[in-house]
Amino acid sequence: MPGISSTIFTPEIIRDPHPTLALLREEAPVFWDERIGSWLVTRYDDVKTVYADDRFSRDRRLGRHFVAPAPGSWAERFDQNGLGRTEGEEHRRWRARLAKGFTPRAVARMEDQVRAVVAELADPLRDRRGVVDLVDAFTNPIPNTVISRITGIPPYPGEEERFRRLAQDVIRRFLPMADEANVRRGENAIGELAEWVGKLAEERRQEPREDLVSDLIHGNPDDPMTNLDIVLLVALLIAAGSETTTLAGTHALRLLLRNPEQLAHLRRDPGLVRTAVREVLRFGFGSAGGGVPRYAMQDLEIRGQRIRQADMVMLSLAAANRDPEVFADPDRFDVTRDNRDMLAFGSGPHYCLGANLALQELTCMVEAALAFLPEDATLLEDRIEWEIVGLICRPVALPVRF
Ligand code: HEM
Repeated sequence: MPGISSTIFTPEIIRDPHPTLALLREEAPVFWDERIGSWLVTRYDDVKTVYADDRFSRDRRLGRHFVAPAPGSWAERFDQNGLGRTEGEEHRRWRARLAKGFTPRAVARMEDQVRAVVAELADPLRDRRGVVDLVDAFTNPIPNTVISRITGIPPYPGEEERFRRLAQDVIRRFLPMADEANVRRGENAIGELAEWVGKLAEERRQEPREDLVSDLIHGNPDDPMTNLDIVLLVALLIAAGSETTTLAGTHALRLLLRNPEQLAHLRRDPGLVRTAVREVLRFGFGSAGGGVPRYAMQDLEIRGQRIRQADMVMLSLAAANRDPEVFADPDRFDVTRDNRDMLAFGSGPHYCLGANLALQELTCMVEAALAFLPEDATLLEDRIEWEIVGLICRPVALPVRF
């Protein structure tokens, strides 16, 4: 296609994907990317259509390039058992069991825990002066501490740090295109986590407490969850809810500091923070052009392109969220925008299980930042360190002068 080579996954485009995504949306909305061996779907309507089409599956084992993980590995157990992989009846069964962990009572408890975790990390920042890296001090530790706390890991000194360290290694296992060293490190971390969470599950089986593990074990008497089910679920929460929320939080602070008039708007009207957070998710927060993978279960066509059974199709949520057919002036970051239709949490049966939790965490983070950031805080944009991991470009540090 003129202007676009055989792949959009070059370091330059991963760093700044939106001009290329706009071109694809316009001229090649169903694009075959040679480098990753996948179709890329970029229009909002097409993304929604594929999401709702049951001729596509999320099960990566159906993909042409699937390489079976080592027998007995954690990756294999995920493929066979994990919530994020299953479809149809099996998937509905997992979601129904999980609903017992997200009752209104449990959600209210989680909200308190989120507020407490954010306050613990925000309070020391109120009196800080000088240059502070807000990834290290704030946006990175929050999501894993929240997952640790809602799971029921006791917040004793050292325990949450250990959970966070393991979680960081678990995430490496799930990164697209993880190399051998990261796969090994991730497998070891899941092993250690499994032993720990498995023991916790056994304790809660005997003696329930106010936590997610107890709710799941005791809330499903007709379809009991094993300790292995619980372990796989906690690892999935880490994989799905940690890096995503950290990245979104980091981009939220970066976007607000880069757009002082929007930040001032929020200071004047803090009731807008939740809308602002959704706008950050719409605008994009590092997911580059990639997106969520699906696998065709039969030969079919999208917009005249012939998709063969076992082809991978990536739904570019980043591109869909800037589709001008749905969002007027889509490249403008506007904290007052009506962005109810944004797709950052997906759509259909796999819609993000943690969407409310994530929105709550991010809203709390931004509210806390409005309080601890002095009026004259400045983002040191040229000192931001960017790292390309797989198809994602993420800020490793967000230096801000207080
Ligand atoms: C800003 C943060 C987040 C974003 C942008 C996000 C995005 C997504 C998306 C797009 C999906 C659907 C994937 C697909 O269709 O294949 C998804 C699924 C999922 N998310 Fe999130 N997520 C976030 C935070 C969280 C959090 C905090 C948790 C829990 C701790 C979580 C747990 C899950 C789970 C378990 C699924 C799989 C649901 C299923 O397969 O039925 N996510 N997320």
